[in-house]
Amino acid sequence: MNSFSNSMQTHPKPIQKTCYTTFRGIPHLGARLPSRRQETWVPVLISSQEKTTIQGDHADSTGSSLGKIALSNSLFLSSHISRFQNCLSTTISKFIDHQPPLHPSVDPCQVFTGNFAPVDELEPTNCTVVEGELPGCLNGVYIRNGSNPQHMPNGPLHFFEGDGMLHSLTLSGGQATHCSRYVKTYKYMLEKEAGFPIFPNILSGFYSLPDVLANVKVAGRVLCGQINLMRGFGLANTSLAFFSNKLLALCESDLPYVIGMTQEGDIETVGRWDFDRKLFASMTAHPKVDKDTKEAFAFHCNPTCFPYVTYFYFNEDGVKQREVPLLSINQPTPIHDFAITKRFAIFPETQLVVEPTNVMLGRGMPVVFEQKKVPRIGILPRYAESDSNTRWFPVPGFNAMHVTNAWENGDDEVVLVAPNVLSIANVFHKIEKVHFSLEKLTINTRTGKVSRKVLSKRSLELGSMNPYYIGKKNRYAYLGIAEKVPKMSGLAKIDLEKECEVSRRLYGPGCFGGEPLFVPRNANAVKSDEDEDDGFVVSYVHDENSGQSNFTVMDAKSPNLDIVAKVKLPRRVPYGFHSLFVSQDSLSNNW
Ligand SMILES: [Fe+2]
Repeated sequence: MNSFSNSMQTHPKPIQKTCYTTFRGIPHLGARLPSRRQETWVPVLISSQEKTTIQGDHADSTGSSLGKIALSNSLFLSSHISRFQNCLSTTISKFIDHQPPLHPSVDPCQVFTGNFAPVDELEPTNCTVVEGELPGCLNGVYIRNGSNPQHMPNGPLHFFEGDGMLHSLTLSGGQATHCSRYVKTYKYMLEKEAGFPIFPNILSGFYSLPDVLANVKVAGRVLCGQINLMRGFGLANTSLAFFSNKLLALCESDLPYVIGMTQEGDIETVGRWDFDRKLFASMTAHPKVDKDTKEAFAFHCNPTCFPYVTYFYFNEDGVKQREVPLLSINQPTPIHDFAITKRFAIFPETQLVVEPTNVMLGRGMPVVFEQKKVPRIGILPRYAESDSNTRWFPVPGFNAMHVTNAWENGDDEVVLVAPNVLSIANVFHKIEKVHFSLEKLTINTRTGKVSRKVLSKRSLELGSMNPYYIGKKNRYAYLGIAEKVPKMSGLAKIDLEKECEVSRRLYGPGCFGGEPLFVPRNANAVKSDEDEDDGFVVSYVHDENSGQSNFTVMDAKSPNLDIVAKVKLPRRVPYGFHSLFVSQDSLSNNW
């Protein structure tokens, strides 16, 4: 048991809402700051020793007998310190009482409702196929990651900041087994033992001065050794990847977590993975695996220190290669996704920038929109040894958070397909107002000219394509029709060659899916380009009318994305982020 858990056993005293101690109406500084909502319980970290001191001080402040003038110097000093603390607490308390209501985008009561609300873990449970038949070639596991807060906080929490929960469906011989498990991150384990949230939320945890002060307590725990930041503070809630025989749960704020699947279809967290001590900070949630070379390409962002983005790759054995700091990025910028081709790595830089002073001064989200900044696309050799050959191409108005694919067109052109986030300034606070415009960009690296083509009038995000074409010219992409990302009312199949939509499926009134994931029929290869769309598109789909969730399998090649099979899930699956299908052959060699 670590020092933190020992401390937790001794001190926490859950009291309801107002978090007062022995002082009537005056919260102690050691208490958790009161909630702006009143229905939740708040823990107090105060030792019996502290309590005795406070009671003595309280007696002193109200008794004022002559005998107390004879207090020792130390008690006298202690009394004044306590009095100062009390005054400060009162000031903070009054300040909090006058705080405006939380913004809807970070108010847990408004964010985590309906099918965005978290669920408990679920042990492996057999499911029923209620429509059609599961294709025999779908042999493996479908897993989807998502945000599922272990504890609902008193203060703000953005949808992106819940603990990672994996929802798997193991498919074998036409049968399906469903399981839901948290990724057992260091953060998750500490907070599970404590019984309440401990770590600050970067996106939503600094909206006011009291938020900042509350996080000072976290800094104290770090200094006391109760929290070891070297063990990470990530959520592992964003995506999944499979390379070098490891299934990884990913979040860009931390290292990956290795995940194992048992014979029974259960999900186990094996541990945090630093690639044999070669990766120290964090890694993108969207590494790119070249199926031809078995190499994986990735990067990490540092939001506070230069260099702000560092690029690297892993060879086919999963050994991390040299790091290439992108020195030409001279402003802290959050890059969520990127692309590779056979010769290049491609980074879309948006108009979002990191503003750390927002965190320090309690001004809200540290990621802000910068009107004057011109979005640009950086292209460097994918085996670059330095940033010296990186070239940047300004593309005004093009803000891509995700990339569908990229490839080379002859010697001089690079093609990039990605949803352009129109009004990206709203992406964190009013995502339902954001339109995602799928674009195909052709960048002439010789002349510098960038031509653009919008591929659909629909709002399309969270796409996938045949993974064997990553970095190579491909024809088809499958994207979710955005209702309120990641909630999708249907999906569209886009022909990237003809530059138009060729088929679609709407899930029906009140029914919403997530990221449509393409799974090739043949798990090991693509026979010919005619077979690129020979496979299935799968997603969890939730019916908000009945509260029922199912796993839907659609025929990717059919004109209307016909439903091949529906699996009734034992209980609802909340809306979430990215997904992955891993074949049984790959799982057999897993970790
Ligand atoms: Fe993503």
